[in-house]
Amino acid sequence: MATTVTVTGAAGQIGYALLFRIASGQLLGPDKPVHLNLLEIPQGVKAAEGTALELFDSAFPLLAGIDVYDDAHKAFEGANIALLVGARPRTKGMERADLLEANGGIFKPQGEAIAAGAADDIKVLVVGNPANTNALIAASNADGVPKERFTAMTRLDHNRAIAQLAQRTGAAVSEITNMAIWGNHSPSMYPDLFNAKVKGERAWDAVGDEDWVANEYIPRVGKRGAEIIEARGASSAASAASAAIDHVHDWVNGTPEGEWVSMAVPSTGAYGVPEGIISSFPVTTAGGEYTIVEGLDVPEFSQARIDKTVAELQEEREAVVKLGLVS
Ligand code: NAI
Repeated sequence: MATTVTVTGAAGQIGYALLFRIASGQLLGPDKPVHLNLLEIPQGVKAAEGTALELFDSAFPLLAGIDVYDDAHKAFEGANIALLVGARPRTKGMERADLLEANGGIFKPQGEAIAAGAADDIKVLVVGNPANTNALIAASNADGVPKERFTAMTRLDHNRAIAQLAQRTGAAVSEITNMAIWGNHSPSMYPDLFNAKVKGERAWDAVGDEDWVANEYIPRVGKRGAEIIEARGASSAASAASAAIDHVHDWVNGTPEGEWVSMAVPSTGAYGVPEGIISSFPVTTAGGEYTIVEGLDVPEFSQARIDKTVAELQEEREAVVKLGLVS
């Protein structure tokens, strides 16, 4: 039986980069057929249908079928995996509360539709920004669905952190392991070199330059999205799609022994991160479930930065509680 994968924002730029990789088998792995449900707003349906024609023309052996919807209840019916990419971008003059409210208008009904009709094993990845808090809104409005099934994407930050570290140390990307992103998918997030390794050595020691880590590396990774917009004239799309593939692939298929990945997940209270927010942690995955890696080294340098990004998530939570989007 095919796995039903619902993708929202299917006509957007991430959607265009993502759908072909899902249909080719890269999301779930070889030999796993997928049925794609594409969700768009009415103005986006025609373009999504155009993409569906191209997917059809690619004759992907693993693509069992495609449907295009502008109705969330229909799009999430029977979904095993949901990639929530469509979101309301911040427009000029928009305050954070307005942005959160506008996104509440998307993620609350989508959470309700997931609760109403998705498959029992539904797994949700929120890509649309502000991703962590949008995931919290969806989770809070999906009665009966375990909140652990709602995650947000920090894998792009994770991949950027690996790539920048590889470039600095001259190591291959494959020689960088145990990267961890903590906190919010925003410039406040914290890439952790105390637990990451370069060829098995602690990355902090391999770099040996606190000033570079504090003043170049961390801000570079945090503001990479803005750097891409400046260079490309549009926000990251293919790299975001690639990270979404990595996130779901590893959630479904498991992490290798000794390795972990970064996912924003509902806090269990680990590392003093309060429950009630969706924050990025290092996680291992097995059997379709993830577990926050406990007991890692969190020196003062890390703690101060984790506290800051977590405080930002708590403020976002307070704002959406005030708006009645999260209880
Ligand atoms: P885009 O503007 O090209 O596409 C968004 C699409 O979503 C549009 O086609 C729009 O019609 C659709 N949409 C809007 N509301 C919808 C709804 N209620 N239901 C279904 N579809 C809806 O944007 P792009 O570049 O594809 O980015 C999508 C989101 O991903 C943005 O919020 C962006 O900030 C975020 N993003 C997140 C990253 C992460 O690391 N978490 C990285 C890069 C982007």
